[in-house]
Amino acid sequence: MKENVNFEVVKLTGGDYEEEHAFLTRSRKALRRKTFFYPYTDEQLKAVMEGGEAFGVRDRGKLVGTFNIDLDEEYAKELADVIRKSTNGAVDVDACYEASGLMVDGAYRGKGLGKTLMKAVTERANELKIDLCGVVHIENLASLNTFLGQNFVVAGLFELNFRYIFLYLLKKFEKSFEFAQECDRINVRKSDAVKQALAQGMLGTALDGDEIVFSRLSRKGLK
Ligand SMILES: CC(C)(COP(=O)(O)OP(=O)(O)OC[C@H]1O[C@@H](n2cnc3c(N)ncnc32)[C@H](O)[C@@H]1OP(=O)(O)O)[C@@H](O)C(=O)NCCC(=O)NCCS
Repeated sequence: MKENVNFEVVKLTGGDYEEEHAFLTRSRKALRRKTFFYPYTDEQLKAVMEGGEAFGVRDRGKLVGTFNIDLDEEYAKELADVIRKSTNGAVDVDACYEASGLMVDGAYRGKGLGKTLMKAVTERANELKIDLCGVVHIENLASLNTFLGQNFVVAGLFELNFRYIFLYLLKKFEKSFEFAQECDRINVRKSDAVKQALAQGMLGTALDGDEIVFSRLSRKGLK
């Protein structure tokens, strides 16, 4: 049975940089699949925490979860560009800001903390009236479920190299996509098939085991 834990999300600032840096380094080192968490450079983390929005969860003072919004405008345009290209223009988005640094301490996973952080970040994005983009390793099922659970859709694919194939998960501010019908299910290991589905204007709306459920946008597209 799922344990019910109620942790409060707190805002982190530039002053918390060393603590978040140590938490992410320690937690990534402990991952079985390190490729699931693409590390920030020190400069990137500083920039995100000082110029963006940083959130954390503490247990009796100890940092046990993090999630940030990167407000870098240029990078937001680059992410949107990948989505437009991946979907052959079916999803027309100008800028989507990366929701990055999602990490829950290994001892606290599976208790709803990821979901709690995801809610905090999406609520803040709605206040800021911005679209969000999650960049997730294609085989990272826990992260995919956490994003898809908050109505993100798989709308892009980017291959950095053979070890890093990322899905781009988009959440439009205050809008949702309208889908005509479910039309395909593709295993996350079949990245070429995923790429093809996106290029045909299908978006990933859910995960069933290790299969992404694809649906075609209705003619209206965005509600
Ligand atoms: C991804 C991560 C943050 C999720 O945090 P969490 O606190 O364990 O997640 P939650 O308990 O809130 O669960 C969120 C959803 O993911 C699902 N989930 C959690 N662990 C899962 C797993 N190992 N496999 C598949 N789904 C999983 C849950 O069932 C839940 O979906 P539901 O609401 O449909 O039931 C956590 O696994 C983690 O820190 N992973 C290592 C770092 C990482 O990969 N970060 C993501 C970088 S993009």
